[in-house]
Amino acid sequence: MTMLEIARSRPVVPVIEINNAGDAVPLARALIAGGIDVIEVTFRTEAAAAAIAAIRKEVPDMLVGAGTVVTKDQVTRALDLGVAFGVAPGLNPDTIEAFTKAKVPFMPGIATASEIEGALAIGCRMLKFFPAEASGGVAMLKALSGPYASLGVRFCPTGGVNPGNMLEYLSLPIVATIGGSWVATKQHIADGDWDGITARAAEALAQAAKAV
Ligand code: 3PG
Repeated sequence: MTMLEIARSRPVVPVIEINNAGDAVPLARALIAGGIDVIEVTFRTEAAAAAIAAIRKEVPDMLVGAGTVVTKDQVTRALDLGVAFGVAPGLNPDTIEAFTKAKVPFMPGIATASEIEGALAIGCRMLKFFPAEASGGVAMLKALSGPYASLGVRFCPTGGVNPGNMLEYLSLPIVATIGGSWVATKQHIADGDWDGITARAAEALAQAAKAV
């Protein structure tokens, strides 16, 4: 599957920061129970690698990606873990080259026209628009659609996306999917709020289904 195919088939990507790898499997099961079968586990905590490994082993229906893949070491670890995709907040050609070589889809982050063109030049069209709200939000994406939609560029806005604005983003033709932490925040996970996570996952998908 390409990054675009992953994004198009999954309108909401939970972005996860997890402190205790023991929470990974119940978290993944809670998301699946709410209908979400994709997860971006960010390399922002020590527990991330063990969490990814546990979900891959115990919840095979979950498509597990690594997020916040920034350093060389994180690139190696993500690929060694056998992630289904990788995501970064920014655009690093070395990272993209490593994922491309390994034939693993990768979604770099961009926030400007120049960065989009940098991504296009190295073959990336499915881009994380980050931090979405702080970078101009829906208005910025509408403006970027003019020059880039016809070139096949599609976005996953992330950063400040929430139940109140997700539909506005998903209704833009240039938006393939959205990402965010609200479905399962650090606190929800630490609290073991699995029912709440299932409910928010289901609600997010119900909202996404309304996008035209
Ligand atoms: C990310 O890295 O994608 C963001 O930190 C998620 O942003 P959010 O917490 O505002 O959803």
